[in-house]
Amino acid sequence: MFAAPKGTKDVLPPEAWRWQWLTRLAMDTFALAGFAPVVTPDFEHTELFERSVGSESEVVTKQMYTFADRGGRSLTLRPEGTAPVMRAILERGLERGALPVKLAYCQAMFRYERPQKGRTRQHLQLGAEGIGSENPLLDAEIIELSTRFLTTAGLKPVLLLNSIGHEDPSCRQGYIKVLSGFLHEHSAELASADRARIDTNPLRTFDSKEERTLAVMRDAPLLSDHICAACREHFDAVRGALEDLEVSFEIEPRLVRGLDYYSRTTFEYQVTGLGAQSAVGGGGRYDGLSEALGGPRLPGIGFGLGVERILLALESVGTFADEPASAVHVYVVALGERAQRAALKLTTDLRRRGIGADFDVMGRSMKGQMKDASRSGARWAVILGEQEMATGTATVKDLESSEQTALPLDEVPGAVQA
Ligand code: HAM
Repeated sequence: MFAAPKGTKDVLPPEAWRWQWLTRLAMDTFALAGFAPVVTPDFEHTELFERSVGSESEVVTKQMYTFADRGGRSLTLRPEGTAPVMRAILERGLERGALPVKLAYCQAMFRYERPQKGRTRQHLQLGAEGIGSENPLLDAEIIELSTRFLTTAGLKPVLLLNSIGHEDPSCRQGYIKVLSGFLHEHSAELASADRARIDTNPLRTFDSKEERTLAVMRDAPLLSDHICAACREHFDAVRGALEDLEVSFEIEPRLVRGLDYYSRTTFEYQVTGLGAQSAVGGGGRYDGLSEALGGPRLPGIGFGLGVERILLALESVGTFADEPASAVHVYVVALGERAQRAALKLTTDLRRRGIGADFDVMGRSMKGQMKDASRSGARWAVILGEQEMATGTATVKDLESSEQTALPLDEVPGAVQA
């Protein structure tokens, strides 16, 4: 017998109904804001992620599923969705059409991580990207959209917000020098893994899980005190627009996020009840990403939300905003060969009219079929027996009230509409 690979799992009903409900809600909510769906390949050239997510990032150095295909190419299972979307836009020249390009996705991501609650090696991510504008109103639009979706789904996450400035000596590059200086001064107090990163990726020390490093970081100089005037002005405009929209947020000057393409606005949604994996989603601007991939200047912002974590968080809250129910509305019960053929015909007729219907193919007894009808979640049972076949009628039973009536067969669809 085989088991699913470590860190992966099957999603079976009834849980799978929740997945479907959540992903539909997301894609419908995003579509109402003008985000069209996009599907990119599940694997890309490895270099795409090295150049965007960053060759020093945790994702690239430790978590990628990278393999050589039979043609000797180095390919990687998509660990995140933003770089592939940008690659697709640049490859197809969408940036020469109407801007911003607004795209949304619901795709699997693959990261080789130590599995634990809310952390798997394959996860499903809901994301949206708005590309082609630096306007802080786009930031507010995107952040309001992800917040509204999470709220509609039934969560009350805390929205953490920060600006990490932009790649420039007058801004983040200048700050990184200040931060490296501070870390070198305190290097003896840092955990060894964090000490090793001082010159390659000092910002990551804010995300360290080591208590001794975090104690040092409490006194570290903050990026928000060092960003340039233009970035500060941009951030003030984002905050003002979010206040206009009554989206509440907390400024978190230590929020750095794990992917190197971010610039300016960054944000994350935190929930309680998930243990260590408290982020249900996050996002930010990536104004330099297109250029890092060899494209023109094409600033953008987006977010990614983890389906598994959202559902875990909803379970811990104990309620689903809109509990998905079975789609089967009518169950046709039939006894005898003739009645069974008629049952398939009636079931099909109902389905063609858009009414969810099912029938028995297991040769169950009448009692067994009635049991299966209630298991299916149907509101109505339509009974076709010998007597009904002889008279061209059916017995329609309301499974909620147990009331039943005999009707001519052609009146059945009308009777079970409700
Ligand atoms: P991220 O923060 O790496 O961002 O991932 C987004 C979300 O995906 C996380 O908050 C979490 O809910 C979920 N997630 C990530 N890794 C795992 C895992 N191993 N198991 C379960 N869930 C996980 C990004 O990936 C960016 N591309 C988001 C973005 C879009 N930024 C701009 N546009």
